[in-house]
Amino acid sequence: MHPIGRSKFNVALTILSLMICSATGLEAASVTQPNKRQTVGTAASERNWWKNAVIYEVYPRSFQDTNGDGIGDLNGITEHLDYLQKLGVDAIWLTPIYPSPNADFGYDVADYRDISPEYGSLDDFNRMVAEAKKRHIRVIMDMVMNHTSDENAWFVQSRSSRTDPYRNWYVWHDGKGETASSQGAPPNNWGAFGRSSWEWDAETRQYYYHHFSVHQPDLNWYNPAIEQEFKEIVSYWLNLGVGGFRFDAIETLFEDPNLQNEAPLLDKNGKPVLDPSGHPRLQRTKEGDFPQVHTVMRQMRAHVDAFDANQFPGTRVLIGELFARDTSDLLKWYGPPQTPEFELPMDMPVAFINKLDVATFRERIAESETKLGGNVPLLVFDNHDQPRMDVRYGDGVHDVAIQRVLSTILLASGGASLMYYGDEIGMKTTPPTRKEDVKDRMGGLANWPRFKGRDGERTPMQWTDGSNAGFTTGSPWLPVPSTAASVNVKAEEGDPGSLLTWYRTLIHLKKTIPALEQGRNTMLDTQNTKVLSWMRRAPGIPVVLISVNFTAEPQTVDLAGPPAPANGALKTLLKSPGESSPSRLEHIELEPFGVYIGQVQ
Ligand code: BGC
Repeated sequence: MHPIGRSKFNVALTILSLMICSATGLEAASVTQPNKRQTVGTAASERNWWKNAVIYEVYPRSFQDTNGDGIGDLNGITEHLDYLQKLGVDAIWLTPIYPSPNADFGYDVADYRDISPEYGSLDDFNRMVAEAKKRHIRVIMDMVMNHTSDENAWFVQSRSSRTDPYRNWYVWHDGKGETASSQGAPPNNWGAFGRSSWEWDAETRQYYYHHFSVHQPDLNWYNPAIEQEFKEIVSYWLNLGVGGFRFDAIETLFEDPNLQNEAPLLDKNGKPVLDPSGHPRLQRTKEGDFPQVHTVMRQMRAHVDAFDANQFPGTRVLIGELFARDTSDLLKWYGPPQTPEFELPMDMPVAFINKLDVATFRERIAESETKLGGNVPLLVFDNHDQPRMDVRYGDGVHDVAIQRVLSTILLASGGASLMYYGDEIGMKTTPPTRKEDVKDRMGGLANWPRFKGRDGERTPMQWTDGSNAGFTTGSPWLPVPSTAASVNVKAEEGDPGSLLTWYRTLIHLKKTIPALEQGRNTMLDTQNTKVLSWMRRAPGIPVVLISVNFTAEPQTVDLAGPPAPANGALKTLLKSPGESSPSRLEHIELEPFGVYIGQVQ
């Protein structure tokens, strides 16, 4: 169990408290599209598309508004599919687009078989999927199975009476010490930030359980009807041509059936750990990580594979949102080879180090290959729940260079890569400055101003330097950051030294350079605490070397000799602006936070 608990808030808050804590460089890497057309369509390529994939997370509300209501929509995504194709992405994962009262912006689903009118219609959805397909981009849906909205018809029925057929779809329990005149105490001490995870329902005189907000009642996964229902929901979207699912908050599907109390979380001196609001933190070992979830995911995998059985089984990808304590803890989410679960459980241990520490990165990247039993890692640095990389890694001076470093780790260390919209142009976390402006009520109000919620990483995509950054002609649901004047797609598109060009080139290399695609990592120069270097190699193909400078000073490295080739001329594939092209492995000069990628000839 993760020591900081499973709640997304805990993770975000821990990160937060830890935080309060030219030359173009594009030599030899012309920015053309990888020739995917040659490979799409064969059984093997269909089955394996996700293994070296670049998956792009779209926050639909903030991507592109096309009807002037200030909220992004599906037609806006369709409008930018050419942009995404040019970037080189294989799939887009959309955070929930189902009808929702938006207590948690879509993560409170009211109807799993429809599209929220804010985002468009099923026709718009079908058009988006069809247009994406033409560009070899798959659409991945978010599947929220732990809880629903309290406005979902299932819950409305469930709370209507103790004898309703849907009563047992949710987790209901009597209060402790309840009498005719009092509701009694919640069934146990589960909760966070001083609030209980149980909510009293005065009508039917029982508590219901909600791991997240009071508007997100947990489904009762001990009831087999729930699994059956979700298999049908998954089939519904498979029939509409989606490329897979990202399973939300999957660790918390089952809770302790005996509802035992959580023990307090203690520090190494045995003292209770307090949360930012001063309440004792609980271990949260009883609210998740129960083995039954693996049975569910195995069945789900089999269900999805059976759907594709006559075509290409394994084509639809299952991605898991996981907060594994360490890399080896992730292994169980892949499942045994004969009964697989997720293809791609998210590998957070690499990206959420949140400190440019060479030794830790070296260890975690190596572990992603050695401790995952040959499975494919899915690295991810940013998402809609955490401050963007600029806050977690930037120094305010070299942020773009630091993002080159991190994107190189994301895209050149093997496996699949998950990136977040706007990272490719260097969008910065822009939290609200006034409490009354907070839109992420669930995340941002209770602990203001220590935690300002998640609005800061969900601001509108910055397309141009024009009005509202080209996001909307109306009034944007979240303010457009002032950085949009210089940080935007239009400005970066034609600039060979821009971050956008960097990302495009890096993705292109990932798809076309054999060692980046098929090679295995070997760490190099392993005592170096300032520069992280590794090579990617596989029999019969040229070795690729990657060196990234984690410091604000220039560095020089000598990578010649075992385990790297003793010698050899280097062909530069990509380097940071201002860097010279080294000709030999013995002497590679790196600018502050510089990156070098070269192929040994
Ligand atoms: C999502 C969050 C959401 C939570 C509850 C998470 O995994 O990424 O945005 O608040 O689940 O559904």
